[in-house]
Amino acid sequence: MPILQGALRLTAALGLATLSFVPLAAGAAESAAVSVTIQADKPGAKIDRNLYGQFAEHLGHGIYEGIWVGEDSSIPNTRGYRNDVVAALKKLKVPVVRWPGGCFADEYHWREGIGPRDKRPVKVNTHWGAVEEPNTFGTHEFLDFAELIGADAYVSGNVGSGSPQEMAEWVEYITSDTKSTLAELRRKNGREKPWKLPYFGVGNETWGCGGNMRPEYFADLYKQFATFIKAPRDNTPLKIASGANVADYHWTEVMLSQAAKHMDAYSLHYYTFPGRWENKGASTGFTEDAWASTLNHAVRMEELVTKHSAIMDKYDPDKKVALYVDEWGTWYDPEPGRNPGFLYQQNTLRDALVASLTLDIFHRHADRVKMSNIAQMVNVLQAMILTDKEKMTLTPTYHVFEMYIPFQGATSLPAEVQSPTYSRGEWSLPQVSVSAARDVNGKLQIAFTNVDPNKGASVSAKINGANVKSASGRILTASALDARNTFDKPEAVKPAPFKASKKGNELRVELPPKSVVVVAVE
Ligand code: AHR
Repeated sequence: MPILQGALRLTAALGLATLSFVPLAAGAAESAAVSVTIQADKPGAKIDRNLYGQFAEHLGHGIYEGIWVGEDSSIPNTRGYRNDVVAALKKLKVPVVRWPGGCFADEYHWREGIGPRDKRPVKVNTHWGAVEEPNTFGTHEFLDFAELIGADAYVSGNVGSGSPQEMAEWVEYITSDTKSTLAELRRKNGREKPWKLPYFGVGNETWGCGGNMRPEYFADLYKQFATFIKAPRDNTPLKIASGANVADYHWTEVMLSQAAKHMDAYSLHYYTFPGRWENKGASTGFTEDAWASTLNHAVRMEELVTKHSAIMDKYDPDKKVALYVDEWGTWYDPEPGRNPGFLYQQNTLRDALVASLTLDIFHRHADRVKMSNIAQMVNVLQAMILTDKEKMTLTPTYHVFEMYIPFQGATSLPAEVQSPTYSRGEWSLPQVSVSAARDVNGKLQIAFTNVDPNKGASVSAKINGANVKSASGRILTASALDARNTFDKPEAVKPAPFKASKKGNELRVELPPKSVVVVAVE
């Protein structure tokens, strides 16, 4: 339960018209004044619901145990998929899932994951922990899973150790409605009709685990592989080119200048960690310095998206090629006592704020950024869900994604924020982040994040071009920086009701320290 000290406060003394519930975090002494102007009459780009996409790789317990337990498991399941995880993901309205990797994708050969499960080859997952990969979860299991949770499928193809032929045949196997040998094989394996295949990735991190290539080389290879991806006209996937690592702007220059005409989207990967790559920092028990460093690194996404987009604008001024940030999130040191190759980490209030700050950035760049896939869905890195045998818990990151659902498909609105900075040592960033949008039902939705763990924020939000009657929603906060949900206390951090007050056309929002608030304005 969020540690809130709530108070019913008569706000008439401030000249305000309503009674409001003002949550105060324990120990919150001061509040900084923040002013916001929202232009409700100046609609911007549509926030593609795919910005709320996820990533599920054959890594640690991301797939096996996290999603798939098999039909014979004592854990309640539907055709092998865990019921608790499926229900939680359905509630989240996950729009799209990327699979099977990641680095795993460039070692994956799809033919090994079809046909009778007990006849599939057992391989070694050489990239992640050198454990056995039974190939039990393959093309059918993934595409059926995506259908089960109501998400679109984004399949990532093997460039690094595969061939254009293998890739082309995978697409045919999935999408063909003819009597071709591959389509008949799919039917023999239990799927009569083709699946929908809206997104297909050509390579992953081809600058690294996907082949250690130069962009000049990969640009040609990309065009070669992409040429042979053919599918029925009404089921042709959008092609995504493996893109840059963090601030590798040269990669973007080369790929866009050489191959923009051949791609529908271009990807970017960026992970957030407080320390250095070799020593990233712990997921719990961290200091305020690590808190500040993490959030500071998270908001670097703004600079990365801006600079990569500017290069894309040069070669693609009509914005025909979308930017997909198809891997992002926090990455900490492995949990002691666990297989370091499994990338299992705890998820705290800090991760929740990384999520809200990052989603706000994507909203601001909704004209170019059309998909993002947080890494990863279950039990890996900044997961939505953690499982331990029959137990499951939702993470603070899950709750932010759930609170932000109204932004899926909404129209972004300009929000000008005048906020003091939150500074700690060498780190500093604006104390308050804001996102505003008109949702698909016409309601105004506003998200606020206060990153300061010691100071509240008193926000006055002026809304031009809309009448404000009331505003209410939910808040996510807690007393500790590393507050988290565990299998024993799965509801330690969860959203609570929140009400804003108003004066004329101005909203008054009292943000406790380290909090995320989403309100709907009526
Ligand atoms: O998400 C974990 C790994 O991070 C992915 O496999 C890879 O693409 C990236 O380096």
